[in-house]
Amino acid sequence: MYKYLFSPITINKLTLKNRIAYPSLGLLYSYDGKLNDRYVNFYLERAAGGAGIITVGPVGVDFLGSGLLCLSIADDSAVEPFSKLTQGMKDAGTSPFIQLFHAGRYSHPILINNETPMGPSPVYSQYTKVTPREMNKEDIRTVQKAFAGGAARAQRAGFDGVEIIASAGYLISQFLSPLTNQRTDEYGGSFENRTRFAVETIKMCREALGPDHVLTIRMAGNDFVPGSNTEEDAAAIARVYEDAGVDAINVTGGWHETKVPQLPMDLPRGGYAFLALNVKKAVSVPVFASNRIASPEDAEQILADGYADLVNLGRVLIADPEWPIKAQEGRADEIRPCVACNQGCTDRVFTGQPVFCVGNPRAGYEAERVISEVSVPKKVLVAGAGPGGLEAAVTAAQAGHDVSLYEKAREIGGQLWLAGAPPHKNDLWEFVRYYRAMIYRTSVKLHLNTEVTADLIRSEAPDHVIVAEGAEPLVPPIQGVDDSSVIGAWEVLSENPFLGKNVAVVGGGSVGLETAIFVAHKGVLSPEVVHFLLAYEAMDPARIRKLMFSGSTSVTVFEMLDRAGKDVGKSTKWVLFDNLRRFKVDVKTSTRVLSIEDGVLTWEKDGKTGSKKFDQVILASGSRPKQTLSKLVESLGVPFTTVGDCRGIGRIQDAVHGGFLAALALSS
Ligand SMILES: Cc1cc2nc3c(=O)[nH]c(=O)nc-3n(C[C@H](O)[C@H](O)[C@H](O)COP(=O)(O)O)c2cc1C
Ligand code: SF4
Repeated sequence: MYKYLFSPITINKLTLKNRIAYPSLGLLYSYDGKLNDRYVNFYLERAAGGAGIITVGPVGVDFLGSGLLCLSIADDSAVEPFSKLTQGMKDAGTSPFIQLFHAGRYSHPILINNETPMGPSPVYSQYTKVTPREMNKEDIRTVQKAFAGGAARAQRAGFDGVEIIASAGYLISQFLSPLTNQRTDEYGGSFENRTRFAVETIKMCREALGPDHVLTIRMAGNDFVPGSNTEEDAAAIARVYEDAGVDAINVTGGWHETKVPQLPMDLPRGGYAFLALNVKKAVSVPVFASNRIASPEDAEQILADGYADLVNLGRVLIADPEWPIKAQEGRADEIRPCVACNQGCTDRVFTGQPVFCVGNPRAGYEAERVISEVSVPKKVLVAGAGPGGLEAAVTAAQAGHDVSLYEKAREIGGQLWLAGAPPHKNDLWEFVRYYRAMIYRTSVKLHLNTEVTADLIRSEAPDHVIVAEGAEPLVPPIQGVDDSSVIGAWEVLSENPFLGKNVAVVGGGSVGLETAIFVAHKGVLSPEVVHFLLAYEAMDPARIRKLMFSGSTSVTVFEMLDRAGKDVGKSTKWVLFDNLRRFKVDVKTSTRVLSIEDGVLTWEKDGKTGSKKFDQVILASGSRPKQTLSKLVESLGVPFTTVGDCRGIGRIQDAVHGGFLAALALSS
């Protein structure tokens, strides 16, 4: 099974047991640059999951380039704690790598004691909103020595491999790019000059490590920033790296300033593997592919098709550290999915908070959230198979309880089916795949098409009921909400009905905006048709592009607040709004809907009223908790817990984490 994925590979003199690498991902588990138990537990659990490489990182080589939120290896005091970690990781069967980090102009004064960050040239950063100071020759030498010092310490601390970060727009990318490097000395201008900083840094690290120790570099396969390095440049840069002495090249996408998504669901799975192939064609050292490599099938195909020699599994190993073991044992269905939502990881890092995972309640809580076998199992009835009920049922069963799960619909999943319906959101249905497999694995007794009633509870006689009855749509107090033109967003997302040419969405929160895109997407060219038309040069590419975003329905969103999408995370909001713009969805903010009559919607904005006839008006005004069942269970005197939306409207993580914790609490 997965013969490429699980075949060994030798890099320099290091033989890895398989082709799976966990790349560097900032976790923000300490605010003093030091390792702590939370970090150690996180990495050890991933080390035990079966990956060939686990990269600890980012690890700063000096304070100015990394600051308070990043681990540090800037001095010798870091060696001992890292040594303990690497030994533990090796004992668990993985090869520990470290990523040496310097952010350059991406450092922020807040994180570096209000000092000014430095970069090759004083070019303002859209990402940090700061202009760095220009590095002088002494700064350059100091930073290069810091990289070499970090490499030497990393080797002493037992890391099998040392990776230099030269991607994502950090310091080395800044030297490489004509946009951020406007120097006129030997470090700027020509290609050779712009690569000089990287080449010297690689050579100094190589010298520090000796010829036999693995040294790798992480690079952007295309900066995806107009005027910066492209794929062609990336191939040439990779050749320079190989000549300078790296043993492997880790290829990812663009920069933080890039206006092409790097992480959200919009990036197709394995979407940047072609960048790795481009580099692979240029060099003879092993190449890693990266970004959105989700399933064992995807990973195997990337290797089998020759895109790369190794695959990076970043967020998927946050979501499920045992991904490699499960794949190898033929249990891929049981892999907890990473759905590329970014809500627990990227959004957290962007707001300076520790990383968790929406779908894995244990990520970042490895020590405290442990499922232990109970000595006295309880008979547990779970009512409702949305994400909260599913997680509760599976976790309770894993702890040894006798669990029956009741769902009145004909399928498990609840609101996941709605959340996953809009374009680029289908990955959310992966949760359903996972829970189906886990229900089977843990022998939860699943009863579909069955409503939980007083009689059922009496006949089951459970010791405990977990109520996960979910939510119901909120109907806003608007005159005419019962007009025949009015339909609920949930109905639109689940039934996908014909809606007409002109549609209004009332409510500009995440559900309203996603529903708007779902509707605006109707009637656009499918990817296959786009491919066909382009392949045969059948039409002007500009016209094809237009038809990709111009379908059968025009959509207008009405939002009362001054901004739409207030509940959408930072890392995905710009992608959502880009999509709304492409589909020409008209988002009206600070606009209150007054009435709906025969499809004519009347609104008020800035004291003025307006009205327009729509073929259909979709209500997306939020939801409210259902509490029918909890009241019933309470009246029967059976101990119970509520989880998910029926406890309080929340996000998927609230349901999943709540379900998990409710199941753990059964044992206390
Ligand atoms: C929260 C977070 C922090 C990250 N930090 C780093 C980093 O410090 N260095 C780095 O090279 N890449 C970093 N990345 C990028 C990841 O290594 C990886 O390339 C990216 O998540 C795409 O791979 P994935 O889809 O497998 O997660 C980070 C990504 C996330 C989500
Ligand atoms: S929070 Fe979302 S994107 Fe991040 S690892 Fe978990 S599922 Fe993946």
